[in-house]
Order: sequence, then C-alpha cells, then structure tokens
Amino acid sequence: MQPRRAGRYVDGTLGAGGHARGILEASAPDGQLLGLDVDPQALALARKNLAPYEGRIHLAQASYTSLSTQLALLQWDAVDGIVLDLGASSMQFDTPERGFSFMHDAPLDMRFGPHALMTAADLVNKYSERELADLIYQYGEERESRKIARAIVKARPLHTTRELVAVIESVSPRRGDRVHPATRTFQALRIAVNEELASIEEVLPQAVAALGTGGRLAVISFHSLEDRIVKDFFREQSKDLVNPPYERIYEVERKAIVKEINRKPITPRDEEIKDNPRARSAKLRIVEKT
Ligand SMILES: C[S@@+](CC[C@H](N)C(=O)[O-])C[C@H]1O[C@@H](n2cnc3c(N)ncnc32)[C@H](O)[C@@H]1O
Repeated sequence: MQPRRAGRYVDGTLGAGGHARGILEASAPDGQLLGLDVDPQALALARKNLAPYEGRIHLAQASYTSLSTQLALLQWDAVDGIVLDLGASSMQFDTPERGFSFMHDAPLDMRFGPHALMTAADLVNKYSERELADLIYQYGEERESRKIARAIVKARPLHTTRELVAVIESVSPRRGDRVHPATRTFQALRIAVNEELASIEEVLPQAVAALGTGGRLAVISFHSLEDRIVKDFFREQSKDLVNPPYERIYEVERKAIVKEINRKPITPRDEEIKDNPRARSAKLRIVEKT
C-alpha cells in the first residue's frame, strides 16, 4: 500500500488491528486511519491495541459494505489506501462459543457480528434439503453435498457444532490425514451466514471509487471463490473499454480505472506458513487507481 505521511487509509476488516497498526506506523506521524469491523469483540480489542494512535484513528462497528457512507461521515472524499483481509479472524476461530470451529462444541452461530440476519442453526434447521445441498456444494465445493444435506435434514433440529460434526461424520467418515470431513460444510455455512461473497461484490466498486489517483486497494482472500471475484473485478477495471465495432464508433469509451500491481497473487513464503499455518491459502492482490 506504500503508506505515507498525512495519507488517509481504510482497514475494512480491522480484526485485532494488526494491519491497522502497520499502516499507522508507516504513515506516522500524521497518517489517518478509518477502521471497520462488524464484530464488537474485535472492535473492542482493536480499540485497546490501537490506543497509542488516538487522534489518528476513527473506528466504527460497521460492515465494509457501508464504506461510501462511512467515508461520507468523515467527509473524506478520496483515500490513499484500503485493505480488506477477508473471512474470519484467528480470534473468532479460537473462541469456541462463536461456533466457527468444528473442533469445539458450541451453539451453531457463526455470525461475524450481530447484524447478520441468520445463524448457522437457522440455516441448517430451516433450509430445504435442496437449498442446503446447493449451498454446501457451491460455497464449500463439497462433492458429497447431497449426502450431507440429506443426513442433516433427517437428523434435525441441530443446535450445536458437535451435533453437526457427528451427522457429517456419519455419512462422510474420516479418512487418514485428509482434511476433516466437516471442513467444507462449516466453510459453506459461514460464507452463507455472513453473505461473504455478496459483500465482496458490493464493496469492491465502492473501494475503487473511493481511491484518489495513485491510491491502492489491497485484498487478501482465503479461498478460490473469494479470489475469483477479486481477480475478475480487478481485470475488468484494469482494461480500456472500447465500443463494440458494430456500433461503428471506434473511440475508447472508458479508460482503465486501475492498474494491477501484481498480475499473479502474492502468496506467503514457507517461513511465514511455518510461523502461521493459517496463512497457507492466503492470496494478496493489489490495484492502483490510475
Ligand atoms: C482475517 S480478519 C482480519 C484480521 C486483521 N487484518 C488483523 O490484523 O488483525 C477478518 C475480520 O473481518 C471482519 N469482517 C468480516 N466481514 C466483514 C464485513 N462485511 N465488514 C467489516 N468487517 C468484516 C471479521 O469480523 C474479522 O474480524
């Protein structure tokens, strides 16, 4: 992002404030940061961790999908950099009662924040077998989605992560050291509960519009569905759009809005993965406003 003095930056997925701190340090002494997170627990922790930067930070419990509104509230008409670090945080995964992890027993919740309309329990207990199968197939890329959906419908109501894991294991048993059979179904439910893919589609155009010339948008995604949305959007925005030839107007209709800083995503090095195994599937893509 190349933060610089007096710049204005947005961290749309504040979490514990790690990226925010990096940006504030790099833009010292007077760079400003707007930090957003839908999770009140994350926001409270970030507020504590970022206390030394009081006066340079603006934090709000809000979705990054409200980016334009949040910027309007601050009367920031252009920003120099925006970072989005998608998905759930380690803190959320490691808090058993949030229901994100199939390793712990907890209520089937999986909401990033109280704004989400449904919990994972609502989905597994209310959706039809067909809807569940489609969701698990699409968002989890799970080949055994139909079998799992059938077993869920037969066993419900389900209230806890352990109950759901038992149902999945009954039709899709553990085999050696392959990923746990519940991994994909849990991912699918989390994406659906938090409307993650629709949120990414909603924020990207707002983010590009909010950047001033030379400003950068950096997005870290953790699975192929997210990365595809980011990649396609960045590609489309970095092309000149020409009128179709049959209209016989040969001028360029719209110049490229951004340029890609990296055509291939940046991925973690081996040492980083060793230090932090959860980073293994991370992909970073960056564009700069032209
Ligand atoms: C991977 S973590 C970010 C960690 C952060 N970069 C750090 O340094 O600690 C993702 C965070 O994004 C938040 N989040 C997910 N969807 C969001 C949304 N639509 N709007 C705002 N925050 C969101 C989650 O609650 C979570 O805290």
